[in-house]
Amino acid sequence: MAETAKIILDGKTYEFPVVQGTEHEKGIDISKLRAQTGYITFDIGFANTGSCQSAITYLDGEKGILRYRGYPIEQIAEHCTFVETAYLLIYGDLPTQKQLDKFSADFTAHSMIHEDMKNFFNGYPSSGHPMGILSAMVCSLAAYYPELIKPEPAKDDIYTVAVELLSKIRTICAFSYKKSIGEPFVYPRADLKYVPNFLNMMFSSPTKDYEIDEDVVNALRVLLVLHADHEQNCSTSTVRLVGSSLANLFASISAGICALWGPLHGGANQEVVEMLQQIQNDGGNIQKYVDMAKDPHKDFRLMGFGHRVYKNFDPRAKIIKQKADALLNKLGIHDPLLDIAVKLEEVALKDSYFIERKLYPNVDFYSGIIYRAIGIPVNMFPVMFAIGRLPGWIAHWKEMIESPATKIGRPRQIYTGSTQRNFISLEKRG
Ligand code: CMC
Repeated sequence: MAETAKIILDGKTYEFPVVQGTEHEKGIDISKLRAQTGYITFDIGFANTGSCQSAITYLDGEKGILRYRGYPIEQIAEHCTFVETAYLLIYGDLPTQKQLDKFSADFTAHSMIHEDMKNFFNGYPSSGHPMGILSAMVCSLAAYYPELIKPEPAKDDIYTVAVELLSKIRTICAFSYKKSIGEPFVYPRADLKYVPNFLNMMFSSPTKDYEIDEDVVNALRVLLVLHADHEQNCSTSTVRLVGSSLANLFASISAGICALWGPLHGGANQEVVEMLQQIQNDGGNIQKYVDMAKDPHKDFRLMGFGHRVYKNFDPRAKIIKQKADALLNKLGIHDPLLDIAVKLEEVALKDSYFIERKLYPNVDFYSGIIYRAIGIPVNMFPVMFAIGRLPGWIAHWKEMIESPATKIGRPRQIYTGSTQRNFISLEKRG
């Protein structure tokens, strides 16, 4: 007999089906709860709420497991290019050589942005945050591809829009960086692969060609791959929520970028480096900052620490820390911020406050150290997260619009405002 959950309300017992995933995760299907009982569930931050069934990413926060389409993240980070990872997430299987060749060739074909869009960059102040520019640019792409914004796109249209976005995002990000430093745009090159092409657009200039270093390319590849999906996080849920109204992919991703921008999510990588810099400028007193993070009266958190789901360790952070060490050694860079980060981690992990709350370094704690070593400016760190997360957003949007079970996202609330009262005219309001 199928498992059910019993809920007793006002003395009456109701039964609800239990749904189970392939990794034996269980949930109570309360989709008929309100219709049958008049009650809703109350779950601030959706910490216990499953909003969909998904076959893309599995994670077990207690055990530190993360898998894309069943493949452990450690294997994907070791062996997969970013383009292969994107294909895997979006289409469910690793591509064959033929599929990969076509996917890569289509990236090359779609890497340019419309020449008119270049004018948009002139409208932004050079100090404008690149996440705001990126979100606006991605949304603006809809104006240039009206044929791709049908509410129920065909399979081919989804393929094209995914390739357009994945390829163009690099160009948009690199152009916005060039604009911010007052240098001419560097166009994408057909002979370069995804990551070196991006680095070349970022760092070549009319006076100096960028020298491609395979270790740098590899470190950036690993970072992008590690960020590529993370199931129902804040930005991915945003993409799904916006897309559930049948808003097009450009609009949905643009909203996801805005959600990612926040310092509690993808903006944390920028905040971590700024925090480490602050500790350094303040004399390197690590204990002072750990104490501040613990003080309930202070509005300060250790950025790059803690996670809604990981309660033991973040497998991505482990890989990134090793990569950061290796890259800095290879490049002969001694970054004092890495020393501070390592000491901060040591102190925090011995502290009962962090132990009791299961707070560990997350993906954002060491990623900034690698971005700095590559030469990426601090305000571009969240943008790097966005490039990395794009395949996951697309995969979830595609899964959502292709699922017959999808409904427009529309949570309920518990109203706590005034009960009914009568209108008072302006004269009588005093
Ligand atoms: N520093 C100090 N205390 C913390 C921290 C931190 N970084 N994170 C959580 N806590 C405390 C929090 O004050 C609370 O304490 P208490 O029980 O005494 O009230 C307890 O730990 C639980 O915190 P929470 O805010 O209820 O946990 P959450 O699951 O809602 O938040 C989080 C998760 C990631 C937003 C949070 O840990 C945080 O703000 N971390 C810093 C920002 C950060 O690094 N974000 C990147 C997350 S990983 C990248 C991504 O996928 O977005």
